[in-house]
Amino acid sequence: MTKNERTMVVIPGDGIGSEIIGQASRVVEWFDRHRGLGLDIKERQLGVNVYEKHGTLIQDETLEAIEAADATLFGAIGGDGYDEIPRHIRTETGLLSVRRRLAMFANIRPVVAFDALVDASSLKPEIVRGVNMIILRELNGGLYFGQPRGIEDIGNGERRGFNTMAYTTPEIRRVARVGFELAKERGGHLTSVDKANALDVGELWREEVIRLGAEEYPDVLLNHLYVDNAMLQVVRDPKQFDVVVTENTFGDIMSDCAAAIGGSLGMLPSASLSDPDKEGRRQAFYEPIHGCAPDIAGQNVANPIGTILSFAMAMRHSFERPEDATLLESAIANTLAAGVRTADIAGDVSTTVSTTAMGDAILDQLDRLAR
Ligand code: IPM
Ligand code: MG
Repeated sequence: MTKNERTMVVIPGDGIGSEIIGQASRVVEWFDRHRGLGLDIKERQLGVNVYEKHGTLIQDETLEAIEAADATLFGAIGGDGYDEIPRHIRTETGLLSVRRRLAMFANIRPVVAFDALVDASSLKPEIVRGVNMIILRELNGGLYFGQPRGIEDIGNGERRGFNTMAYTTPEIRRVARVGFELAKERGGHLTSVDKANALDVGELWREEVIRLGAEEYPDVLLNHLYVDNAMLQVVRDPKQFDVVVTENTFGDIMSDCAAAIGGSLGMLPSASLSDPDKEGRRQAFYEPIHGCAPDIAGQNVANPIGTILSFAMAMRHSFERPEDATLLESAIANTLAAGVRTADIAGDVSTTVSTTAMGDAILDQLDRLAR
């Protein structure tokens, strides 16, 4: 390994994970061969497939590999057998715990409407065309991790399940800061989404975002929406958004909803980032926002684009290769413009292609662009 070589851990995971990662890996190889990307790739596993062999969703060695790498590219987790895994193993060793243990609190979920797909959306083309927004989801706190949480017996054979939506001032400020920084690089507009009219945590969230904006980002236009209204605005007029910053659960829900804009959940990539440490290294985890889709696993029909776009994000945010990221995004736009469609984005196109054929088509467009 040469001294400046960087490492990427590649983890297929469960369900359609191996199929979509399979295509993404071909794209990684293309960039290695044609653009001298020079990544040292380490293949690992995570998920139900690991649990079946080792009684844990992730082995320590894998977590260490992720921690030591410059980036991780991940497929999906879950599916058959997941619900039968004891709850403490799911919460302590699952994907959510990896995000938290490596302090990857900033989850960047771009929502871009490809021109060729505006007719595949369930929303009207004029609503969707031109949308280019980022949902910045807080990923280490809020309702997913707040204490106390659990399921308890309350007598008479009855039980009570509970979670806590909680944020501290530093937790709010660090994610809001990422939001302001992203907005500064883009359209200069940050929308903070909360539920300040009903929740104390939302009231604090709003106060802290306003305070940080006034102190450090006076040039970023800041507005606030309650989450219920924000969800309506996502389907009513998504072009009003540039960067949205929000609580963990709100961001989870909102990003699935916003996937309607992209035509399919299979289109959306994500990056989960920590703050840089003293040496300037940060944890970075790239994955599509969809799940493991057990209903179509093993059929070679899943859309690999969300995963391949996640690799484009890795080139942009971890490997200082913004031109290569743009090249890959253009190859995908061209593939879609040429009418190549997996079933989920078929719209009114009559023939759809397999996962592998979508990979072929994207590689072909890369070859054309590189000529
Ligand atoms: C996501 C997913 C996960 C989440 C699931 C699989 C636990 O929905 O990344 O959006 O809720 O964060
Ligand atoms: Mg989700």
